[in-house]
This record gives sequence, C-alpha cells and structure tokens, in this order.
Amino acid sequence: MPRERPQPPPFEPEWLERSLDRYLTWGLVFMMVLLAGFVTYRVREPGLRRTAAREQQASYNALGHELFNASCAQCHGRNATGAGSAPTLNSTQFLKTTTDEQIRVLVSGGVSGSSMPAWGLDFGGTMTDEQVRQVVTYLRALEPKAPSIPGWRKGDSAK
Ligand code: HEC
Repeated sequence: MPRERPQPPPFEPEWLERSLDRYLTWGLVFMMVLLAGFVTYRVREPGLRRTAAREQQASYNALGHELFNASCAQCHGRNATGAGSAPTLNSTQFLKTTTDEQIRVLVSGGVSGSSMPAWGLDFGGTMTDEQVRQVVTYLRALEPKAPSIPGWRKGDSAK
C-alpha cells in the first residue's frame, strides 16, 4: 500500500483571492461594456447606412442635374424634357426600358454616327466616371414622374 504523498496546504492567501476577485469583476464589467457596444453598433448601423445612401443619392442627383443642364440641355432640352433635336430622356419610353448601366455606357461612349458626343474621359470626353454616374442618378430619379412621350426619339415634349 503506497503511502499518500504529503500535500502542501493550498497557496491561497486572502489578499491574492481578493485581488483576483477584483480583476474578475473588472473583466466582467469591460466585457459587458464591449457587448453593449457591439449590440448598439449592430442596431444603429443599418439606419446610418440608409441615411448615408440617401444623402449621397441626393447630392449626386443635384450635381447630375447641374451637369445635365450645363452640358446636355442644348440637345436634350432643359431638365431632359426634349428640345426637338435629340431623344427626350425624361420619358417613360426611355427610362423604363434602359438600365443605369446602359445609360452610363451611352453617355460615356456616345452614339457613333450621330451628334451625341462621348462624354467619358476614357473616350475623349470631359466627364469623370463619377460625373457620368451623377448624370445617371439624375436621369433615374426622373423616372417616377416621367410622362409618356410616344415621339420621344424625335425629341417631342410632353403635351
Ligand atoms: C450635340 C447634341 C447632344 C448633346 C450635347 C448631348 N446629346 Fe445625347 N444624344 C444626342 C443625339 C442626337 C442622340 C440620338 C443618337 C441616335 O441614336 O442617333 C443622343 C442620344 C443620347 C442617349 C441615348 C438615347 C437612346 O436611347 O437612344 C442618351 C442616354 C444621351 N444622349 C444622354 C446625353 C447626356 C447625359 C448628355 C450630356 C452629358 C448628352 N446626351 C448630350 C445629342 C446630344
């Protein structure tokens, strides 16, 4: 029968235990603060993103509107309502059948064999990609109120 090995008394002086308790408590408090932070972030983030997207949309729309009236209105009419020499872009016929990407490509690259110039810098135009996107945002925002204009290709205006 082997003899039991003598065990030393557990090394747990009272001051050490108190100090450990203090660290554990603070650790718990910090963890709670961190968790609360994550939860708050998770709850607030979608709203913040929506607001940021809406603000960017609004500023792109305003900038695109200015660009349009400065560069495109002489052919497409003020506010894209038609001037008789180029298609009327503020029309359901155009907006409902064209994606943003198509408009972007048309504006950047122009329409060869017509008076529609290429606007993108890559194609010898004067607009940055960002400015082309602003014009696209502006045109897209017209869609909900765009009138139906059967003669939109000839640049007719709404009657
Ligand atoms: C000098 C006149 C002129 C200017 C300036 C001009 N366009 Fe055009 N644009 C045209 C003509 C003409 C067409 C029709 C081309 C064709 O299909 O024959 C056209 C076509 C387009 C189309 C394609 C419509 C379709 O579906 O056929 C878009 C989009 C467009 N222009 C946007 C713009 C934007 C945006 C600007 C300003 C950045 C602009 N245009 C400036 C003359 C112009």
